[in-house]
Amino acid sequence: MNRKVSVAPMMDCTDRHDRFFLRLMSKSVLLYTEMVATKSALHGDRKKILAYSPEEKPLALQVGGSDKKELSEVAKIAEDLGYDEININLGCPSKKVQKNKFGACLMKEPNLVSECVNEMVNSCNIPVTAKTRIGFDDTEDFDYLNKFILKIKEAGCKTFILHARKAILKGLSPKQNLNIPKLNYEMVYKIKKENPDLEIIINGGITKIEEIKNHLKLSDGVMIGRSIYQNPYFLIEIEREIFKTNNNPSREEVVEKLLEYLEKEVKLGTKVNHIMRHSVGLYHGQIGSKNWKRYLSDNMMARDSDFQKAKHIMSIAQNNEKANSVIL
Ligand SMILES: Cc1cc2nc3c(=O)[nH]c(=O)nc-3n(C[C@H](O)[C@H](O)[C@H](O)COP(=O)(O)O)c2cc1C
Repeated sequence: MNRKVSVAPMMDCTDRHDRFFLRLMSKSVLLYTEMVATKSALHGDRKKILAYSPEEKPLALQVGGSDKKELSEVAKIAEDLGYDEININLGCPSKKVQKNKFGACLMKEPNLVSECVNEMVNSCNIPVTAKTRIGFDDTEDFDYLNKFILKIKEAGCKTFILHARKAILKGLSPKQNLNIPKLNYEMVYKIKKENPDLEIIINGGITKIEEIKNHLKLSDGVMIGRSIYQNPYFLIEIEREIFKTNNNPSREEVVEKLLEYLEKEVKLGTKVNHIMRHSVGLYHGQIGSKNWKRYLSDNMMARDSDFQKAKHIMSIAQNNEKANSVIL
């Protein structure tokens, strides 16, 4: 598995339609699902919750839970469904997640996490990975983090995604927890240095190619969330500069393919807005960005948006392409 660059799991963002859209721009990055609670995966509408298109692969399922039996069952299901990796969420600080005893609060319980990971590793043949923070509340301590990681490594996990910011479990909203306190990349580099046998992926606040290149000198991969969601065409730069691929699609070509997918999905009953909402940032920083966003919000973001409106959006894409190529 190539984990040089991955797109972070993001609730309400990286659903299967978003992942399909992102894949139109990058074949090389690893994609993650939004976090799925074990109980939803086991007792919910599994077809809907765990469905994906083959084009999305390589694809990792992120799961939230702390019941080892449930986690191991979901790991097996993930493998059977063809997911390429299963990842346990040990980094989400939200109150709801804490109440259900998963996410970042599990950093306080290394033994329990180790048992859970062990069961997962024993129940499937796909890699079991962990996404965690560098600390929580008053604990931002290298030795604590290193011991936590070693405990999970003993259970069979070899890949760790470290969001380089501690989680504040009380007093901050999930949104604030993504921006405060400040990032500490050095802690992640030190973990890699201390554990050269582990695959260490760094996450948090990465927005530029130069930053990716610098992080790759001191860690095995980067995971990027918001800057790809807000500016998905950043993936093309990543393809070109990091993976050295050529013949990447223009934005117009991306829209063309997205509309083909939209047409197919609408026939299956998917709502137009469920797909198009992910494309708001496609023209980020480009001429025509406002027109694109305005057309989407006026015509394609309502629950009952009409597919026929999609036809006109292609001409906006063509006009934008022309306007930006004149500038170049
Ligand atoms: C809207 C949103 C939803 C998120 N949902 C999840 C999630 O389901 N699982 C998870 O591990 N992290 C989640 N995160 C955290 C991201 O995966 C990532 O760790 C964080 O955004 C920092 O990376 P970034 O600065 O590149 O965005 C979420 C972040 C955002 C902004």
